[in-house]
Amino acid sequence: MDVIGDARDRLIVGLDLSDPDSAREMVARLGDDVSFYKIGMELVYGGGLDLVAELVGAGKKVFLDLKLHDIPNTVAAATRQVARLGATYLTVHAYPQTMRAAREAAGADVGILGVTALTSASDADLAEAGYAMGARDLVLRRARQATEAGIAGVVASAEEAAAIRAAVGDGLRIVTPGIRPANAEAGDQKRVMTPAAAIASGADRLVVARPIIGAADPRKAARDIVREIEVAARKR
Ligand code: C5P
Repeated sequence: MDVIGDARDRLIVGLDLSDPDSAREMVARLGDDVSFYKIGMELVYGGGLDLVAELVGAGKKVFLDLKLHDIPNTVAAATRQVARLGATYLTVHAYPQTMRAAREAAGADVGILGVTALTSASDADLAEAGYAMGARDLVLRRARQATEAGIAGVVASAEEAAAIRAAVGDGLRIVTPGIRPANAEAGDQKRVMTPAAAIASGADRLVVARPIIGAADPRKAARDIVREIEVAARKR
């Protein structure tokens, strides 16, 4: 299992920006206050895949949020390509077939995280999409399946972190987006929690994008969140 260092290592800043230069600028602004970045679809499709090696070369960790889901052969092939880049995590949608294919292809080179249910999805959204169960049941079912598939962890709302821990124990990393400091706007996220509450609920690492990259002073926003994480982690 990947090692978690200090409180700073628990904060993953989402570089939800459209091009590599904006991302580089944000990384420079955040400096030493941030050691872990998430690169998602927007940035990758905007030419940002090379940033993975660049950030890893600069001593940062990278979470590549590609949310893969396809036939097992294609998922395995894509995972092998990503495994060379030096990222710490790669996401796949938490379908058993997909998790197993990614896990096998990843070996020890990149940790696979299963996206249990998007944090923007309410029970009504899941029902509309044809699911017979609500977000909580779906997340727990997929967390158990993630354990069976032997992957590194899951991405879930902090609201489900405690239930996931109770269901599957300490074998999975729980990474939670949908984090909002007390004074921040939720945006399209529906299942949100403060950094302190997320850590208290058992989340290992927190993904935060807009409350940091959209702040007037991103570095201060990141530092405040790390401080909040540090206090909450000490109490756990
Ligand atoms: O701006 P905000 O902090 O809401 O960004 C959250 C990030 O986490 C986004 O990049 C989003 O794609 C990602 N994410 C999520 N819910 C998931 C998985 C990933 O919000 N279940």
